[in-house]
Amino acid sequence: MAEKPSYFITTPIYYVNAAPHLGTAYCTMLADVQARYRRAAGYDVKFLTGMDEHGEKVAEAAANHGMTPQEWCDSQAPLFTNLWKELEISNDDFIRTTEPRQQHAVQYLWERMRESGYLYKGSYDGWYCVPEETYFTENQVRKSDEEKGTHGQHLCPDCGRPLERVQEESYFFKLSAFQDKLLKLYDEHPDFVQPDFRMNEVRSFVAGGLQDLSVSRTSFDWGIKVPFDDKHVTYVWFDALLNYATAVGYSDPSRAEEFAYRWPAQLHLVGKDIIRFHCVIWPAMLMAIGEALPEHVFAHGFLTVRNPETGQAEKMSKSRGNAIAPQDVVDLLGVEGYRYYFMTDVIHGEDSAISYERMEQVYNADLANSWGNLVSRTLNMSAKYFDGKTPEVPEGWAGKPGTLHGIAEGIEGRYAKCMERLDYAGAKDVVMELVHAANHFIEDSAPWAVAKDPARKDELADIILSLLESIRICAHLFEPFMPSTSTEVLRRLGLEDEASTDDLAGACVWGGIHGGVPVAKGEALFPRLNTKKAAK
Ligand code: MSP
Repeated sequence: MAEKPSYFITTPIYYVNAAPHLGTAYCTMLADVQARYRRAAGYDVKFLTGMDEHGEKVAEAAANHGMTPQEWCDSQAPLFTNLWKELEISNDDFIRTTEPRQQHAVQYLWERMRESGYLYKGSYDGWYCVPEETYFTENQVRKSDEEKGTHGQHLCPDCGRPLERVQEESYFFKLSAFQDKLLKLYDEHPDFVQPDFRMNEVRSFVAGGLQDLSVSRTSFDWGIKVPFDDKHVTYVWFDALLNYATAVGYSDPSRAEEFAYRWPAQLHLVGKDIIRFHCVIWPAMLMAIGEALPEHVFAHGFLTVRNPETGQAEKMSKSRGNAIAPQDVVDLLGVEGYRYYFMTDVIHGEDSAISYERMEQVYNADLANSWGNLVSRTLNMSAKYFDGKTPEVPEGWAGKPGTLHGIAEGIEGRYAKCMERLDYAGAKDVVMELVHAANHFIEDSAPWAVAKDPARKDELADIILSLLESIRICAHLFEPFMPSTSTEVLRRLGLEDEASTDDLAGACVWGGIHGGVPVAKGEALFPRLNTKKAAK
């Protein structure tokens, strides 16, 4: 296997009850930025995403469309894969839980669970929320009814939709046996759950006591059969969580080496609504079958939109009718602007209100007026004053102190610290500091005036080289956010070979610019948005 350290990163696998929306795309993009950053930082990355195809919710969606569940899933798959392609998502694998590899792995899991002694047969009598594919006990429902004043309506404590009464034979996973082990895990690995405040939430949930979990269903059949009892199909989450291990070879003897290299995952990225599945049930399942635990789970918040009537921020969702389709944002900002806005203007652990006004503001201020403008002014000046080329680089130039050189010093280290903890806004600020400084430097050094005096040619070359070099470094640092723009900027500088580096620290050392090579001026990277278009 490769000499580079492995970095295995995952998104949740998405239910195929409806087309992907902005929230789904947001989580996938968050993971993509991290995957791209880690590749550049020298890791051997595996980036996994996919679709969660079993369960009642998907079976219902299929029935509503007059299709078999499999036909329905097959018809939805391209909506996901095409959107990921359009949004420049660089996943290395796309898993579907109806694939034979998952079928095999889940059945293998059942056998291991049976051997572990943490599985028993019983009967489930309680409540079930189909949209959330989650069980709720009588107590949980009653408590929530009391809090919300919804007596007798049997609504989901989480999403508020009507619950289904389920009474059926079921296999149970002895989750209750893992309380102490889980608390020990949280104590020993305080960064297992990120951001920090989510850890407190998970810990107090577990400290409050755990119920055994019903992990098979007998009242419908859209799922993976339990190998030793084929009346039962696997509970959709018991199936879905295993996808992470399946994708790197779990249960496949011919991929044992790969599994040993890739597992455990370094990072599971999930929304805050599914944190308990990932931070409680999943580690307990892995403990039961004796497999290593993932290193980190990062829970992001929801994208919200302001309700114009109440003024309140609400979770964006299809059922509320406030969902924005990814295509609408692409049409407005382009893919690069879309990625930049959602990745750098949203604080990822928290809920974030998004608006078209803010999108336009950020796009115009950061991309059109600052980054795009810097690139076009600098390339134009280089071409104009140096015969269509970059200036020759004088001997020892890289070692000379200078304003921009000073700001670029150590920039990659500061940026990396932010990227590693998914503080993408912080990472962007580090890069924008250099972009802004470079734009000010143009005003302060007034190259157009220097160019008038042939005796100041060396000074002019120094100014332009400093600007080009700053652009080169910023292009590298912006790559995870705006991959095509960075590739294009490096191409215009005659450095296309540099675009996919696996040594970001090396690439950001001052002095990498090539002298005397033709520059391509090209079209504006980020034409200014006009307000009317955005308002529409
Ligand atoms: N299938 C399960 C995950 C199984 S992982 C082993 C599932 N699917 S989902 O399609 O309902 O949601 C997938 C992810 O999308 C969740 O992490 C959820 O938080 C995220 N989002 C859905 N709406 C969202 C927003 N409005 N904002 C941000 N993310 C949200 O759960």
